[in-house]
Amino acid sequence: MGVRVLGIETSCDETAAAVVESGRLRSNIVSSQLHLHRRFEGIVPELASRAHLQKIAGVIDASLRESGSRKLDAVAFTQGPGLLGPLLVGKVAAQTLAHLLGVPLLGINHLEGHIFAVELSETLRFPLVALIVSGGHTDLVLSQRPGRYRVLGRTRDDAAGEAFDKVARLLGLGYPGGPVIDRLARQGDPAAVALPRPFMPETWDFSFAGLKTAVLYHVQRQTRKLGRSQVADLCASFQEAVVDTLVFKLIEAARRLRVKDVVLGGGVAANSRLRAVAGERAAGAGLRLAVPPPGLCTDNGAMIAQVALHQLKKRVRQPANLRSDPSLPFKNWGR
Ligand code: KG4
Ligand code: ZN
Repeated sequence: MGVRVLGIETSCDETAAAVVESGRLRSNIVSSQLHLHRRFEGIVPELASRAHLQKIAGVIDASLRESGSRKLDAVAFTQGPGLLGPLLVGKVAAQTLAHLLGVPLLGINHLEGHIFAVELSETLRFPLVALIVSGGHTDLVLSQRPGRYRVLGRTRDDAAGEAFDKVARLLGLGYPGGPVIDRLARQGDPAAVALPRPFMPETWDFSFAGLKTAVLYHVQRQTRKLGRSQVADLCASFQEAVVDTLVFKLIEAARRLRVKDVVLGGGVAANSRLRAVAGERAAGAGLRLAVPPPGLCTDNGAMIAQVALHQLKKRVRQPANLRSDPSLPFKNWGR
Protein backbone atom coordinates (compact mmCIF):
# COMPACT_ATOMS: atom_id res chain seq x y z
CA MET A 1 0.00 0.00 0.00
CA GLY A 2 1.25 3.49 -0.86
CA VAL A 3 1.07 6.61 1.28
CA ARG A 4 -2.60 7.31 1.98
CA VAL A 5 -3.85 10.80 2.80
CA LEU A 6 -7.36 11.96 3.62
CA GLY A 7 -8.08 15.48 2.31
CA ILE A 8 -10.91 17.50 3.86
CA GLU A 9 -12.28 20.59 2.11
CA THR A 10 -14.86 22.89 3.71
CA SER A 11 -13.78 26.40 2.67
CA CYS A 12 -17.02 27.39 0.98
CA ASP A 13 -20.24 25.56 0.13
CA GLU A 14 -19.09 21.98 -0.54
CA THR A 15 -18.43 19.52 2.25
CA ALA A 16 -15.80 17.29 0.67
CA ALA A 17 -13.43 14.48 1.61
CA ALA A 18 -11.23 12.25 -0.52
CA VAL A 19 -8.53 9.65 -0.11
CA VAL A 20 -5.49 9.90 -2.37
CA GLU A 21 -2.92 7.13 -2.28
CA SER A 22 0.47 8.09 -3.74
CA GLY A 23 -1.14 10.34 -6.35
CA ARG A 24 -4.05 8.00 -7.18
CA LEU A 25 -7.61 8.93 -6.35
CA ARG A 26 -9.19 6.22 -4.16
CA SER A 27 -12.42 8.04 -3.27
CA ASN A 28 -13.87 11.50 -3.76
CA ILE A 29 -17.04 12.54 -1.94
CA VAL A 30 -18.48 16.02 -2.50
CA SER A 31 -21.68 17.04 -0.78
CA SER A 32 -22.97 20.31 -2.21
CA GLN A 33 -25.06 22.77 -0.21
CA LEU A 34 -26.38 24.50 -3.31
CA HIS A 35 -30.04 23.82 -2.47
CA LEU A 36 -29.53 25.68 0.83
CA HIS A 37 -28.14 28.88 -0.64
CA ARG A 38 -30.04 29.00 -3.93
CA ARG A 39 -32.96 31.05 -2.68
CA PHE A 40 -30.55 33.68 -1.30
CA GLU A 41 -28.67 33.74 -4.67
CA GLY A 42 -25.38 33.58 -2.83
CA ILE A 43 -23.65 31.81 0.04
CA VAL A 44 -24.87 32.56 3.56
CA PRO A 45 -21.83 31.84 5.80
CA GLU A 46 -23.83 30.90 8.89
CA LEU A 47 -25.97 28.41 6.98
CA ALA A 48 -22.83 27.01 5.35
CA SER A 49 -21.13 26.41 8.72
CA ARG A 50 -24.16 24.57 10.10
CA ALA A 51 -24.50 22.41 7.00
CA HIS A 52 -20.78 21.50 7.16
CA LEU A 53 -21.25 20.49 10.80
CA GLN A 54 -24.16 18.24 9.90
CA LYS A 55 -22.44 16.65 6.90
CA ILE A 56 -18.77 16.37 7.76
CA ALA A 57 -18.74 13.08 9.71
CA GLY A 58 -20.86 11.26 7.12
CA VAL A 59 -18.76 12.61 4.21
CA ILE A 60 -15.48 11.54 5.86
CA ASP A 61 -16.93 8.12 6.68
CA ALA A 62 -18.16 7.62 3.10
CA SER A 63 -14.78 8.62 1.65
CA LEU A 64 -12.94 6.14 3.90
CA ARG A 65 -15.41 3.35 3.15
CA GLU A 66 -15.28 3.94 -0.59
CA SER A 67 -11.48 4.06 -0.60
CA GLY A 68 -11.43 0.38 0.43
CA SER A 69 -9.40 0.82 3.61
CA ARG A 70 -9.48 2.85 6.81
CA LYS A 71 -5.71 3.03 7.05
CA LEU A 72 -4.36 6.60 6.76
CA ASP A 73 -0.84 8.03 6.91
CA ALA A 74 -1.92 11.65 7.33
CA VAL A 75 -4.97 13.91 7.44
CA ALA A 76 -5.00 17.19 5.49
CA PHE A 77 -7.53 20.01 5.57
CA THR A 78 -8.08 23.39 3.91
CA GLN A 79 -6.54 25.99 6.19
CA GLY A 80 -7.63 28.91 3.99
CA PRO A 81 -8.53 31.02 2.14
CA GLY A 82 -12.30 30.71 2.58
CA LEU A 83 -15.11 31.45 5.00
CA LEU A 84 -13.94 31.27 8.61
CA GLY A 85 -16.86 29.27 10.07
CA PRO A 86 -16.76 26.58 7.36
CA LEU A 87 -12.93 26.42 7.56
CA LEU A 88 -13.09 25.81 11.32
CA VAL A 89 -15.47 22.87 10.91
CA GLY A 90 -13.07 21.11 8.53
CA LYS A 91 -10.12 21.87 10.74
CA VAL A 92 -11.70 20.48 13.91
CA ALA A 93 -12.80 17.32 12.10
CA ALA A 94 -9.30 16.81 10.65
CA GLN A 95 -7.59 17.56 13.94
CA THR A 96 -9.79 15.10 15.84
CA LEU A 97 -9.24 12.31 13.34
CA ALA A 98 -5.48 12.86 13.11
CA HIS A 99 -5.24 12.86 16.90
CA LEU A 100 -7.27 9.65 17.26
CA LEU A 101 -5.24 7.86 14.58
CA GLY A 102 -1.91 9.28 15.75
CA VAL A 103 -0.98 10.51 12.25
CA PRO A 104 0.34 13.92 11.07
CA LEU A 105 -2.09 16.80 10.48
CA LEU A 106 -1.44 19.15 7.55
CA GLY A 107 -3.08 22.51 6.83
CA ILE A 108 -3.22 23.17 3.08
CA ASN A 109 -3.76 26.30 0.99
CA HIS A 110 -6.98 25.92 -1.03
CA LEU A 111 -5.61 27.78 -4.08
CA GLU A 112 -2.49 25.62 -4.17
CA GLY A 113 -4.92 22.70 -4.14
CA HIS A 114 -6.65 24.02 -7.28
CA ILE A 115 -3.31 23.89 -9.14
CA PHE A 116 -2.52 20.34 -7.99
CA ALA A 117 -5.95 18.98 -8.92
CA VAL A 118 -4.33 18.50 -12.35
CA GLU A 119 -2.12 15.73 -10.92
CA LEU A 120 -5.09 13.46 -10.29
CA SER A 121 -5.31 12.93 -14.04
CA GLU A 122 -2.00 14.04 -15.58
CA THR A 123 1.54 15.11 -14.71
CA LEU A 124 2.28 18.72 -13.77
CA ARG A 125 5.38 20.10 -15.43
CA PHE A 126 7.41 22.91 -13.89
CA PRO A 127 8.07 25.78 -14.15
CA LEU A 128 4.46 26.72 -14.84
CA VAL A 129 2.11 29.66 -14.86
CA ALA A 130 -1.27 28.86 -13.28
CA LEU A 131 -4.49 30.80 -13.49
CA ILE A 132 -6.81 30.02 -10.61
CA VAL A 133 -10.32 31.20 -11.35
CA SER A 134 -12.98 30.55 -8.76
CA GLY A 135 -15.88 32.19 -6.97
CA GLY A 136 -13.55 34.10 -4.69
CA HIS A 137 -10.26 34.32 -6.63
CA THR A 138 -8.63 35.20 -9.91
CA ASP A 139 -4.94 34.59 -9.26
CA LEU A 140 -2.13 34.39 -11.79
CA VAL A 141 0.74 32.48 -10.20
CA LEU A 142 4.25 31.51 -11.28
CA SER A 143 5.52 28.29 -9.76
CA GLN A 144 9.08 27.03 -10.21
CA ARG A 145 8.34 23.74 -8.43
CA PRO A 146 5.89 22.38 -5.84
CA GLY A 147 6.22 24.69 -2.84
CA ARG A 148 7.57 27.77 -4.72
CA TYR A 149 5.08 30.44 -5.73
CA ARG A 150 5.04 34.01 -6.90
CA VAL A 151 1.65 35.65 -7.28
CA LEU A 152 1.94 37.76 -10.44
CA GLY A 153 -1.51 39.29 -10.34
CA ARG A 154 -4.99 38.98 -8.95
CA THR A 155 -8.36 40.62 -9.29
CA ARG A 156 -8.77 44.14 -8.02
CA ASP A 157 -12.53 43.77 -7.59
CA ASP A 158 -14.80 40.87 -8.62
CA ALA A 159 -13.37 37.38 -9.08
CA ALA A 160 -14.10 35.70 -12.43
CA GLY A 161 -16.64 33.31 -10.88
CA GLU A 162 -18.21 36.16 -8.95
CA ALA A 163 -18.70 38.05 -12.23
CA PHE A 164 -20.47 34.99 -13.72
CA ASP A 165 -22.64 34.72 -10.59
CA LYS A 166 -23.54 38.43 -10.54
CA VAL A 167 -24.36 38.60 -14.24
CA ALA A 168 -26.55 35.48 -13.89
CA ARG A 169 -28.31 37.12 -10.98
CA LEU A 170 -29.06 40.33 -12.86
CA LEU A 171 -30.44 38.24 -15.73
CA GLY A 172 -32.56 36.27 -13.27
CA LEU A 173 -30.84 32.99 -14.10
CA GLY A 174 -30.29 31.75 -10.53
CA TYR A 175 -27.25 30.66 -8.55
CA PRO A 176 -24.50 29.63 -9.21
CA GLY A 177 -24.26 31.54 -12.45
CA GLY A 178 -21.25 29.89 -14.10
CA PRO A 179 -22.82 26.61 -15.19
CA VAL A 180 -26.07 28.30 -16.39
CA ILE A 181 -24.25 30.94 -18.46
CA ASP A 182 -21.95 28.24 -19.87
CA ARG A 183 -25.02 26.27 -21.02
CA LEU A 184 -27.06 29.22 -22.39
CA ALA A 185 -24.02 30.73 -24.15
CA ARG A 186 -23.84 27.68 -26.43
CA GLN A 187 -27.02 28.88 -28.16
CA GLY A 188 -25.91 32.52 -28.33
CA ASP A 189 -23.74 34.67 -30.59
CA PRO A 190 -20.58 35.87 -28.80
CA ALA A 191 -20.35 38.87 -31.15
CA ALA A 192 -23.96 40.00 -30.62
CA VAL A 193 -23.27 42.53 -27.86
CA ALA A 194 -20.10 44.65 -27.86
CA LEU A 195 -18.60 44.46 -24.35
CA PRO A 196 -15.28 45.76 -23.03
CA ARG A 197 -12.29 43.44 -22.60
CA PRO A 198 -10.51 44.55 -19.41
CA PHE A 199 -7.02 43.54 -20.64
CA MET A 200 -5.10 46.08 -18.51
CA PRO A 201 -1.84 45.23 -20.32
CA GLU A 202 0.29 47.29 -17.91
CA THR A 203 -0.34 44.88 -15.03
CA TRP A 204 -0.97 41.17 -14.38
CA ASP A 205 -3.97 42.15 -12.25
CA PHE A 206 -7.56 41.64 -13.36
CA SER A 207 -10.75 43.68 -13.00
CA PHE A 208 -14.21 42.40 -13.89
CA ALA A 209 -16.44 44.97 -12.18
CA GLY A 210 -16.55 47.24 -15.25
CA LEU A 211 -17.56 44.38 -17.53
CA LYS A 212 -20.32 43.40 -15.13
CA THR A 213 -21.56 47.01 -15.08
CA ALA A 214 -21.48 47.13 -18.90
CA VAL A 215 -23.83 44.11 -18.93
CA LEU A 216 -26.09 45.86 -16.41
CA TYR A 217 -26.23 49.04 -18.55
CA HIS A 218 -27.00 46.97 -21.62
CA VAL A 219 -29.96 45.38 -19.81
CA GLN A 220 -31.16 48.75 -18.48
CA ARG A 221 -31.07 50.28 -21.98
CA GLN A 222 -33.62 47.76 -23.26
CA THR A 223 -37.16 49.02 -23.49
CA ARG A 224 -38.58 45.50 -23.42
CA LYS A 225 -37.71 42.44 -21.38
CA LEU A 226 -34.97 40.39 -23.06
CA GLY A 227 -36.22 37.33 -24.96
CA ARG A 228 -34.62 33.89 -24.79
CA SER A 229 -32.29 34.34 -27.73
CA GLN A 230 -31.25 37.81 -26.55
CA VAL A 231 -30.37 36.37 -23.13
CA ALA A 232 -28.35 33.64 -24.85
CA ASP A 233 -26.56 36.27 -26.98
CA LEU A 234 -25.76 38.36 -23.91
CA CYS A 235 -24.47 35.30 -22.01
CA ALA A 236 -22.28 34.32 -24.96
CA SER A 237 -20.94 37.88 -25.35
CA PHE A 238 -20.20 38.24 -21.64
CA GLN A 239 -18.55 34.82 -21.42
CA GLU A 240 -16.43 35.59 -24.49
CA ALA A 241 -15.18 38.84 -22.93
CA VAL A 242 -14.21 37.06 -19.69
CA VAL A 243 -12.56 34.15 -21.50
CA ASP A 244 -10.69 36.46 -23.89
CA THR A 245 -9.29 38.48 -20.99
CA LEU A 246 -8.29 35.47 -18.88
CA VAL A 247 -6.62 33.58 -21.71
CA PHE A 248 -4.82 36.67 -23.01
CA LYS A 249 -3.15 37.24 -19.64
CA LEU A 250 -2.30 33.59 -19.03
CA ILE A 251 -0.61 33.17 -22.42
CA GLU A 252 1.10 36.55 -22.23
CA ALA A 253 2.53 35.79 -18.77
CA ALA A 254 3.94 32.46 -19.94
CA ARG A 255 5.43 34.11 -23.04
CA ARG A 256 7.09 36.96 -21.13
CA LEU A 257 8.41 34.70 -18.38
CA ARG A 258 9.56 32.09 -20.90
CA VAL A 259 7.56 29.33 -19.27
CA LYS A 260 6.29 26.47 -21.44
CA ASP A 261 3.56 25.04 -19.20
CA VAL A 262 0.26 26.70 -18.30
CA VAL A 263 -2.41 25.45 -15.93
CA LEU A 264 -6.04 26.34 -15.30
CA GLY A 265 -7.79 25.55 -12.03
CA GLY A 266 -10.76 26.50 -9.87
CA GLY A 267 -14.51 26.34 -10.52
CA VAL A 268 -14.47 28.63 -13.58
CA ALA A 269 -11.93 26.29 -15.24
CA ALA A 270 -14.94 23.95 -15.67
CA ASN A 271 -16.24 26.47 -18.26
CA SER A 272 -16.39 24.80 -21.66
CA ARG A 273 -15.54 27.94 -23.65
CA LEU A 274 -12.58 28.82 -21.40
CA ARG A 275 -11.21 25.28 -21.80
CA ALA A 276 -11.61 25.40 -25.59
CA VAL A 277 -10.12 28.88 -26.13
CA ALA A 278 -7.23 28.28 -23.69
CA GLY A 279 -6.49 25.00 -25.49
CA GLU A 280 -6.42 26.64 -28.93
CA ARG A 281 -4.33 29.65 -27.95
CA ALA A 282 -1.89 27.64 -25.86
CA ALA A 283 -1.29 25.31 -28.80
CA GLY A 284 -0.89 28.35 -31.09
CA ALA A 285 1.76 29.77 -28.77
CA GLY A 286 3.60 26.44 -28.44
CA LEU A 287 2.58 25.99 -24.79
CA ARG A 288 1.31 22.90 -22.98
CA LEU A 289 -2.01 23.45 -21.21
CA ALA A 290 -3.11 21.29 -18.27
CA VAL A 291 -6.66 21.51 -16.90
CA PRO A 292 -8.30 19.11 -14.44
CA PRO A 293 -11.47 17.32 -15.58
CA PRO A 294 -14.48 19.60 -14.82
CA GLY A 295 -15.45 17.63 -11.69
CA LEU A 296 -12.03 18.30 -10.15
CA CYS A 297 -12.00 22.02 -11.08
CA THR A 298 -14.69 22.77 -8.49
CA ASP A 299 -13.91 22.31 -4.80
CA ASN A 300 -12.95 18.81 -3.64
CA GLY A 301 -10.86 17.06 -0.99
CA ALA A 302 -8.61 15.24 -3.45
CA MET A 303 -6.70 18.38 -4.42
CA ILE A 304 -6.02 19.08 -0.74
CA ALA A 305 -4.71 15.53 -0.17
CA GLN A 306 -2.53 15.81 -3.29
CA VAL A 307 -0.67 18.90 -1.99
CA ALA A 308 -0.26 17.17 1.38
CA LEU A 309 1.37 14.17 -0.34
CA HIS A 310 4.01 16.50 -1.84
CA GLN A 311 4.71 18.00 1.57
CA LEU A 312 5.01 14.56 3.18
CA LYS A 313 7.44 13.48 0.47
CA LYS A 314 9.59 16.54 1.17
CA ARG A 315 9.24 15.97 4.95
CA VAL A 316 7.82 19.46 5.43
CA ARG A 317 7.20 20.21 9.08
CA GLN A 318 4.04 22.15 9.80
CA PRO A 319 3.60 24.21 12.99
CA ALA A 320 1.55 22.66 15.82
CA ASN A 321 -0.83 25.61 15.81
CA LEU A 322 -2.51 25.59 12.39
CA ARG A 323 -4.81 28.60 12.48
CA SER A 324 -7.62 28.72 9.94
CA ASP A 325 -7.12 31.90 7.93
CA PRO A 326 -9.86 33.36 5.65
CA SER A 327 -7.20 35.19 3.63
CA LEU A 328 -4.32 32.71 3.86
CA PRO A 329 -1.61 33.84 1.41
CA PHE A 330 0.43 31.54 -0.85
CA LYS A 331 3.39 30.37 1.22
CA ASN A 332 6.57 28.66 0.11
CA TRP A 333 7.57 25.35 1.66
CA GLY A 334 10.28 22.72 1.38
CA ARG A 335 13.84 23.15 0.26
O1 KG4 B 1 -13.59 26.72 -7.03
P1 KG4 B 1 -15.04 26.81 -6.73
O2 KG4 B 1 -15.84 25.53 -6.74
O3 KG4 B 1 -15.29 27.48 -5.33
C1 KG4 B 1 -14.50 28.53 -4.88
O4 KG4 B 1 -13.39 28.27 -4.37
O5 KG4 B 1 -14.97 29.68 -5.07
O6 KG4 B 1 -15.67 27.87 -7.77
C2 KG4 B 1 -17.01 28.23 -7.78
C3 KG4 B 1 -17.24 29.22 -8.89
C4 KG4 B 1 -18.65 29.82 -8.91
O7 KG4 B 1 -18.54 31.22 -9.04
C5 KG4 B 1 -19.28 29.22 -10.16
O8 KG4 B 1 -20.24 30.07 -10.79
C6 KG4 B 1 -18.08 29.00 -11.05
O9 KG4 B 1 -17.06 28.58 -10.16
N1 KG4 B 1 -18.31 27.96 -12.07
C7 KG4 B 1 -18.30 28.23 -13.39
C8 KG4 B 1 -18.65 27.01 -14.05
N2 KG4 B 1 -18.81 26.04 -13.08
C9 KG4 B 1 -18.59 26.66 -11.88
N3 KG4 B 1 -18.08 29.37 -14.07
C10 KG4 B 1 -18.17 29.33 -15.41
N4 KG4 B 1 -18.49 28.21 -16.10
C11 KG4 B 1 -18.73 27.04 -15.48
N5 KG4 B 1 -19.06 25.94 -16.18
ZN1 ZN C 1 -12.18 26.69 -4.83
